[in-house]
Amino acid sequence: MSQNDTKKGNGDVFSSPDRDGFIHRAFMRGAGHSAAAVRRRPVIGICNSFSELNPCNAGLRDLARSVERGVVAAGGFPLEFPTISLAEPFIRPSTLYLRNLMAIDVEEMISSSPIDAVVLLGGCDKTVPAQLMGAISAGKPAMAVTAGPRAVGRLHGAPLTIDDLWTLSDRRRSGALGEDEWETVEGLLVPGVGTCNVLGTAVTMAMIAETLGMSLPGSSLLPATSGARAAAAEETGRRAVERARGGQPPTDFVTPAALENAFRMLCAVSGSTNAVIHLEAIAGRIGHRLGMRAMAEWSWSTPVLAQVRPSGPHLLEDLEEAGGLPAVLKELQPLLHTDALAGTGETWAQVLSRVTHRDSPALRTAADPVFAAGGLAMLHGTLAPAGAVLKRSAADPRLWRHRGPAVVFDGVADLHARIDDPGLGITEDSVLVLRGAGPVGGPGMPEVGQLPIPRRLLHKGVTDLVRISDARMSGTATGTVVLHVAPEAAEGGPLALVRDGDPIVLDALDGRLDLDVDEAELARRTPAVTAPAPRRGYAALYRRHITQAPEGCDFDFLTATAEPSPAVPAVPADRP
Ligand code: FES
Repeated sequence: MSQNDTKKGNGDVFSSPDRDGFIHRAFMRGAGHSAAAVRRRPVIGICNSFSELNPCNAGLRDLARSVERGVVAAGGFPLEFPTISLAEPFIRPSTLYLRNLMAIDVEEMISSSPIDAVVLLGGCDKTVPAQLMGAISAGKPAMAVTAGPRAVGRLHGAPLTIDDLWTLSDRRRSGALGEDEWETVEGLLVPGVGTCNVLGTAVTMAMIAETLGMSLPGSSLLPATSGARAAAAEETGRRAVERARGGQPPTDFVTPAALENAFRMLCAVSGSTNAVIHLEAIAGRIGHRLGMRAMAEWSWSTPVLAQVRPSGPHLLEDLEEAGGLPAVLKELQPLLHTDALAGTGETWAQVLSRVTHRDSPALRTAADPVFAAGGLAMLHGTLAPAGAVLKRSAADPRLWRHRGPAVVFDGVADLHARIDDPGLGITEDSVLVLRGAGPVGGPGMPEVGQLPIPRRLLHKGVTDLVRISDARMSGTATGTVVLHVAPEAAEGGPLALVRDGDPIVLDALDGRLDLDVDEAELARRTPAVTAPAPRRGYAALYRRHITQAPEGCDFDFLTATAEPSPAVPAVPADRP
């Protein structure tokens, strides 16, 4: 069978009297849809990243049924399709390595399929930004439903959340936790489907999608298996039909103003540092750059309000009880562009006029914040000429200003081989440096930036050290962990020149990260890190086109170009 029409797809074809329309209807009727159903408009794709290889997204199969109900109730024709799915615990070398591949998959499926709009079903960390990036570039109206946080477990009567893994792991390394209990924890740590149950990357990105108007207000924190989340998914299906009929592309919602709102929200909740990279990548898809300088200014003018795990003692459900994301935005309202659109199609000003922030220690007020400002420190200096990031709100305040001698590890294998070697002489003043773990060197910036504290120091009760790398860290991790150092070592950044004992100076309050070695000495040194250049397959594509962290680690050819997206036509109601 040949295809005569090679233009990008849309749902018009189902109403067409020509042979192409006949073929589309005939094949769908073969799949069990009625003659009336295959003529309904708009056609709403349900882009589902459900996968048995991704337990965080396992609830999306059921949520797709809820979305379908909403689409049908609004008169549309829902059609679900799969894409690749990225599970944070399983994908190697890292999910960021494949984020852009998933974004391409999402973009091309949306662009090429006979659909008028799409509902994106994502959850685990990179699936949400990949879907947003792909959908923005595809240009068809889109909305998102995220998987929602999984239930919280219990250990010895206390809540057990995914970030407890790091403490439990350190206790096991130090011998304080036996193998029997370690095995018990294995059966308790992940008590159900859904994304990580703290304010890690997945929940942060869900909150960003909500702030950007790509998902419904108040939806991002609803528990994964709750009736409320299923109802929100159904309502999203209905709204997606509206968005298709209104011909509203993602760029009506994802604007420079909305992106600034999202960054301020990220700072206020002490969200995942990964979101800094994803926000820049999303910005690139609308032809915009946030930039480290602007992000530093926004961080220093935004109060830190949330005290939720991993950056505080409270649970996500406490934040939800306080009013969830809309309550966060209500507190930030004077700082926000409230003419940006929310998922209902109203302005945020309209939505926030109905929102109350219920008093809760999980969400402080702007008048009585956790920190007055500066939750995310954007660093520059001789060690990070293009920038680096530190989640200051999750770092030990005694280390915000620190000078110490470097102990350098070349890659993850070297780190694991030597971190507990007493011969390294690591002390509480040492600055641990990991290089060769950036976008190119990793590749894919694996989440290894929270270098483990040497066993010897764990025994002495040390809980934090200054750690610096060109890697990322899990959104569930904490500590004085400087990340995303750019340019990375494998691209010739100064990180490649550091030697054991070199003094490194961190000033998280002044936004500085410096290598205190004179330039003449550095000029005599040879960079210690190189990265092979793969010659075939995705690895070669990645190596040729990946950008550095301050540019969002997108492929250079995927950002918006001078070629404008085609206008999205409004879709009429049913065409019998
Ligand atoms: Fe999938 Fe955390 S590992 S959401």
